[in-house]
This record gives sequence, C-alpha cells and structure tokens, in this order.
Amino acid sequence: MADRYAVIGHPVAHSKSPWLHAEFARAAGQDIDYRRIEAPLDGFARTVDEFRAAGGRGANVTLPFKDQAFLYCRNAVTERARAAGVVNTLIFESGAVRGDNTDGVGLLRDITVNLGRAIAGARVLLMGAGGAAQGVLGPLLAAAPRRLVIANRTGAKARSLAQRSGAAAGGGYEDLAGERFDLLINATSAGLAGETPPLPSGAFAPGALGYDMVYGRDTPFLAVARAAGAQACDGTGMLVEQAAESFLLWRGLRPDTASVLAALRRG
Ligand code: ATR
Repeated sequence: MADRYAVIGHPVAHSKSPWLHAEFARAAGQDIDYRRIEAPLDGFARTVDEFRAAGGRGANVTLPFKDQAFLYCRNAVTERARAAGVVNTLIFESGAVRGDNTDGVGLLRDITVNLGRAIAGARVLLMGAGGAAQGVLGPLLAAAPRRLVIANRTGAKARSLAQRSGAAAGGGYEDLAGERFDLLINATSAGLAGETPPLPSGAFAPGALGYDMVYGRDTPFLAVARAAGAQACDGTGMLVEQAAESFLLWRGLRPDTASVLAALRRG
C-alpha cells in the first residue's frame, strides 16, 4: 500500500497540495497517497490522531490550524518552526511526531532561486505582523539583508515583532515615509479583501521586487508594484517550494519544482 499523507485544514477543498505532491511523486517515480482532510474547527488534534492511527506518515497543515499544529507537537519541533511559532509540516515516525515549518524556506527559494534575487545586502520591507509574517521573518533575517523593516496597520504589533526578533525596525506604514526598499513582501491578508497596505509613494527603489505571498490572484498590491515600475510576483512559487521542502522531509528527496511551477502558472 502507498504511504499516506494529507493536508489538514478548514476549509481545504481549494488546496493545491494534493496535486503538487502527486506531481512530485510521479516525477520521482514514487507511489504516495495524498488527500485533503477537512478537520472540524474544534477537532484538529482528534483528526490528526485518527489519521496517524490509520497509518498516516505525514501531513501538511493549513489555515486555521498552524498554531494548533505547533501545540500538537509538544515541543518536538525544529528550530525554524520554533522561531516561527507555527507548524505547517508534521512528520510521523514510529509513534512519534515532529513539526517543521517550510514556509520561510519556500519564500526564500522562490525569491533567490526562481526569481534570481539576492536578499543578502538588500533593503527588505515585510508588511504584516500576523502568522504569515512571523513564519517567514526568521529565514529572511538569516539571509542577511542590509536592512529589514516590518510595517503593519497596527504599528505596535510590528514594533513588538521587530523587538523580539532583533529586526531593524517595526512600526506603522506612516513611519516608512522617505524609505526605499529593494524587496517589498506583502504578508498581510489585505489582498483577500481587495485591499493593499497603505505604502507611501516612493517606497519602491528602482528595480525593486514586489512580492505578494497570496497566490493565484492579482492583488491590488501587485498592481501598485507594477505602477511603481517594480517587478510584481504572487506567491505561487512559494506555494510550490514549501511543498517541495515538505516532500524532502518526508521522502528524502528534493523534487524538481520548475516544471510544476510552470504548469501551475499556465493554469
Ligand atoms: P495571517 O495568519 O494570514 O498572517 P493574521 O494573523 O490574521 O493572518 O494577520 C493578518 C495580517 O494582515 C495582519 O498583519 C493585519 O494587520 P493588523 O495586525 O493591523 O490587523 C494585516 N491586514 C489585514 N487586512 C489589512 C488591510 N486591509 N490593510 C493592511 N493590513 C491588513
């Protein structure tokens, strides 16, 4: 019988993970069984327990359960998951569970490998201070940007996140006046509501990249980036790269992502 994996979320019907992992497995000549599981909002741990009891080998965890997944692991988490405070990948091995977070490395690989942009030495703006921003902050800082600023609608949240992480600065969007950035990453959920973070004009340095971690839609932030003459990119590549990193954790092999990413972009 094929090894069993799943993505657990609520809702989960839209998840592209089963398709991504099926493609990775096919290209690697491996046989896996990867499904969607919608856990009840009050039943995440029970759902994971049942999946493990049924022979599950690993799971991806998506909204709104990433912090519950962290608690489920009872401290058996990797350093990067601990720093992020959320878990998106569960590994089940002989009765034990381990938690990891592949979102940060997924974002980094998309920016540096797929888009060919250096983070080292760049002026980076991270917009948002919720779970999505927290999940990628540590890996971004580890990539040695010249300066990293966190901006959030509620400025106090960005300030405290910046203080806890040792990032250069944090505050509200109004604090950004006069600053220029090479890499502007939107980790807010504003795009889902058809809105964009209120960036001051001139925030995009010449040749900048505007990156929206939301995937599969042309958000108002991406339109703002293009209007400012920047390169604009959605989070499809991050989605593929975080999945590839999960596949690596489970199967010991890093899948080739270029063909999968191209197929996803073609639609
Ligand atoms: P996630 O897990 O996706 O990060 P979250 O923890 O609810 O979700 O955080 C959402 C983030 O998007 C927050 O940083 C939020 O800003 P506030 O902390 O001020 O609420 C940000 N956000 C949501 N809608 C926004 C909007 N219209 N403009 C700017 N920021 C927005």
